[in-house]
Amino acid sequence: MWQRLTMSVLAAVVFGAAVSLAIPLKASTTANRYSASSQSNHFGPLTLRSDGTFQISVLEDLHFGENAWDQWGPQQDINSVKVINKIFDKESPGLVVLNGDLITGENGFLENSTVYIDQIVGPLVSRNLTWASTYGNHDYDFNISGDAILERERNWRNSRTSPMISGSDAGVSNYYLPVYDHGCVNEHTCSPQLILWFFDSRGGFRYQQGTPESRVGQPNWVDRSVVDWFNSASRSLTKRYRKTIPSLGFVHIPPYASYALQDAGVDPNKEPGVNDDVPLAPQAQGWCPDGSNNGTCTYGGQDTEFMQAISHTEGFMALFSGHDHGDTWCYKWDRLLPGMDVTPANNVSLCFGQHTGYGGYGNWERGSRQVMVSKSGLAKFEADTWIRLESGNSVGRVSLNSTYGQDRYPRTNDSMTYCPTCEY
Ligand SMILES: *[C@@H]1O[C@H](CO)[C@@H](O)[C@H](O)[C@H]1NC(C)=O
Ligand SMILES: *[C@@H]1O[C@H](CO)[C@@H](O)[C@H](O)[C@H]1NC(C)=O
Ligand SMILES: *[C@@H]1O[C@H](CO)[C@@H](O)[C@H](O)[C@H]1NC(C)=O
Ligand SMILES: *[C@@H]1O[C@H](CO)[C@@H](O)[C@H](O)[C@H]1NC(C)=O
Ligand SMILES: *[C@@H]1O[C@H](CO)[C@@H](O)[C@H](O)[C@H]1NC(C)=O
Ligand SMILES: *[C@@H]1O[C@H](CO)[C@@H](O)[C@H](O)[C@H]1NC(C)=O
Ligand SMILES: *[C@@H]1O[C@H](CO)[C@@H](O)[C@H](O)[C@H]1NC(C)=O
Repeated sequence: MWQRLTMSVLAAVVFGAAVSLAIPLKASTTANRYSASSQSNHFGPLTLRSDGTFQISVLEDLHFGENAWDQWGPQQDINSVKVINKIFDKESPGLVVLNGDLITGENGFLENSTVYIDQIVGPLVSRNLTWASTYGNHDYDFNISGDAILERERNWRNSRTSPMISGSDAGVSNYYLPVYDHGCVNEHTCSPQLILWFFDSRGGFRYQQGTPESRVGQPNWVDRSVVDWFNSASRSLTKRYRKTIPSLGFVHIPPYASYALQDAGVDPNKEPGVNDDVPLAPQAQGWCPDGSNNGTCTYGGQDTEFMQAISHTEGFMALFSGHDHGDTWCYKWDRLLPGMDVTPANNVSLCFGQHTGYGGYGNWERGSRQVMVSKSGLAKFEADTWIRLESGNSVGRVSLNSTYGQDRYPRTNDSMTYCPTCEY
């Protein structure tokens, strides 16, 4: 289901040039990339607003560069830029998260597969917004890699994507960003109010390995080395600041627990959202337990350590994923689920966002999940969230608090694409 289904139909659209107003800085070098994990950048550290709140807008599955060779493809990118602009006409976040599948990598040409980054970030740069990325399975292919995307996005000072671990099996977008209190100018003297964790669930294919006809698959789960890093980094943060710091996580492919929760039943009034991708595609789908993917296994269980880690880290409130374009709910993982052997010690909400791009499969109305925390809410490990749609409407507003999963909310309308010229 993560294959795009749109290839065959061509809309009668006006062909327009892709314009980016953003002006890149000098290119970063690959040599300093992993050492330059400057969490506070040109824009300074991330901080709460003066009223004690902090908002995040999640853009996911943008799928730029799809069908780059025909008229349909570039037109979808123009439509996606319009979606981004419409969202930020309504929302003013402190951070934008690009949560994977920025580009449809299998359609890319080696010489220019990452140029679409410029088009994606144009609306963010012109609004002086900063962003942080995770990379998705379509960001890894024969002609594109997480490293190449990182290099392109780091041409802008607005990018806070700053990998903290290296290794060919770790993926690229693994790091954390602290959010400090309002007024913090020097992060060395401030104590974080919130930690944002970014994980790379990899997948897709290895860059320039094998041949174009026979590409080499890359495992599609958060690697063990990343889990070890997360466990040790979160422990040292707790020790250093002598407190449990509330945290949120972002990863492109949802963990298997999302699959098990969906299987247990999504209640449209308790977990409001679209639930059309059934069953959803989780991490480690299609791989065998021994790490081979010869097409015979449906799920290999390799995300078990990751699920163990996030559900045993005190203060880890919620994990946000994309990947399954037709699922947009949040579900509190608060119990041992059938088919699993991880029992959460710390309840964690597993949330999908909303398909943002016009590339990629499905024509559910485009949009973006918003996450809002406040100082008073963080004291209780609570976050609020809703989805801002391209139409300007917001849907699925819920509070991820201690009674989430019992509280009743209005159902989310399963609305389809808003753009009348984008039907396909
Ligand atoms: C952009 O944002 C930064 C940090 O929030 C601020 O220091 C700067 O003045 C802003 N620039 C513009 C042009 O608004
Ligand atoms: C990769 O890029 C090369 C060079 O532009 C192109 O010939 C090829 O079709 C692209 N795709 C694959 C899968 O190799
Ligand atoms: C990328 O390269 C291909 C093949 O060289 C070319 O046809 C295409 O126009 C280029 N796309 C962009 C956006 O520069
Ligand atoms: C695929 O791999 C699994 C696990 O190693 C193995 O049990 C199975 O026999 C393999 N199937 C084929 C067709 O190679
Ligand atoms: C997790 O949620 C369950 C049921 O929703 C509740 O009984 C339990 O106390 C919660 N655990 C924690 C650690 O909050
Ligand atoms: C959680 O939030 C919902 C919606 O705002 C509210 O109705 C409910 O009372 C809250 N639960 C707690 C324990 O505050
Ligand atoms: C729900 O979506 C349909 C189109 O998919 C639209 O006609 C209808 O007005 C929507 N209802 C609400 C309450 O938004």
